[in-house]
Amino acid sequence: MVNILVVGSGGREHALSWKLSQSPKVDTVFTAPGNGGTENNIPINVNDLDELSNFAQENNCFTVVGPEDPLAAGIVDKFNQLNLKVFGPSKQAAQLESSKIWAKNFMRRNDIPTARFEIFDDAKKAQDYVESLDYNVVVKADGLAAGKGVIVCNSNEEAIFAIQTILVKKAFGKAGNRIIVEERIDGIEASYIALSDGKIAIPMASSQDHKRIFDNDKGPNTGGMGAYSPTPIVDDTLAKKIQEKIIDKTIQSMKNEGISFKGFLYAGIMIRDNEPFVLEYNVRMGDPECQPITMRMDFDLYDYLIASVEGRLSSMPPVYWKHQSAVCVVLASEGYPESYAKNEKISGFDSVPSDAHVFHAGTKKLDGQVFSNGGRVLGVTALGDSLESAIANTYAAADKISWPHKYCRKDIGQKGLSYI
Ligand code: AMP
Ligand code: GLY
Repeated sequence: MVNILVVGSGGREHALSWKLSQSPKVDTVFTAPGNGGTENNIPINVNDLDELSNFAQENNCFTVVGPEDPLAAGIVDKFNQLNLKVFGPSKQAAQLESSKIWAKNFMRRNDIPTARFEIFDDAKKAQDYVESLDYNVVVKADGLAAGKGVIVCNSNEEAIFAIQTILVKKAFGKAGNRIIVEERIDGIEASYIALSDGKIAIPMASSQDHKRIFDNDKGPNTGGMGAYSPTPIVDDTLAKKIQEKIIDKTIQSMKNEGISFKGFLYAGIMIRDNEPFVLEYNVRMGDPECQPITMRMDFDLYDYLIASVEGRLSSMPPVYWKHQSAVCVVLASEGYPESYAKNEKISGFDSVPSDAHVFHAGTKKLDGQVFSNGGRVLGVTALGDSLESAIANTYAAADKISWPHKYCRKDIGQKGLSYI
């Protein structure tokens, strides 16, 4: 039996702890720092690598890292030096997410399909470039900006404003010391996540996120307001194309460059005329994609994570997925992604049907009561025999939960329905 330490405090980490705790090989699952829904919470910040490694050592843990920040800071390298078992990519491999410029140059030199781009640290040169183009652009800050450093532009004026915002006004701090100006690709977005051991990559079930705050994809971008799996947008032919042209090629090219990518590799994909383009890489599970994906797993996740670390995924049996659809609706604090109230008491958990799961994110527990403690608060997730029934089951469960400033999108999954 093994103990597990899940690092993180979001809905993704609750879903990972939930799934891992079902393994007969797993004893206790600790979460650091966790939230109001996770058990065995350890009050250590995700960036406190010393304390995390001390805890993992003292409690003989296999550590599973959820979010990108500690990965980018080198948690995996540190744990490896201490001979501690840890799941996730090294600091060098995490550059695929921590530096968008590194990722774009990597894709360019390895022929991985992505939008045409140029890199700038000078606002005037970036402006001149934009004015020389006959297509719209997206302006991106190089570094980690909590999902906010991307500005999709509808005109040259918007692009120039975006360049000023990131490069001159430094709206995202030093993450915006350099920018990418890239072609805007108009198409349909999907998330494609695979598990790699540095040599091969096993695809996880397909999924689609809903990034904007309001229904019909209106309003500002968020961390994700809901997701469902599988998505009809990625059919078998497209999945094969993504796997070969993007995922396998990424893992192989990393290997050729002397970097072993172990962990979840997430490609944010834009599909135009049936051709996939990489919008971004993440080096971890998606949040909220993780919630519906783990609900559909018909295999022992622990076995596969440890096989990834030990470089033996090719000798593992195939993974099986429940044939049902899963939908996750994020219940957020009204006002998110800007300012919102916290510390509101949440009720209704007991009325949620037992086959739905309420994954916690921004919550905390005080004397047995759950309070809101963040922007994305809960991820209500349920299965159904069709996408339509999974949507109905999820919203029926989500309706049972209430607090004064609860907000959710009402159209999660509809994009998939309209595609069928
Ligand atoms: P990212 O954080 O790079 O995934 O960007 C956030 C969002 O911006 C994506 O989910 C897309 O909706 C949009 N986006 C990013 N790059 C592009 C692009 N080249 N063309 C169109 N939309 C994009
Ligand atoms: N749901 C998007 C992300 O995890 O980055």
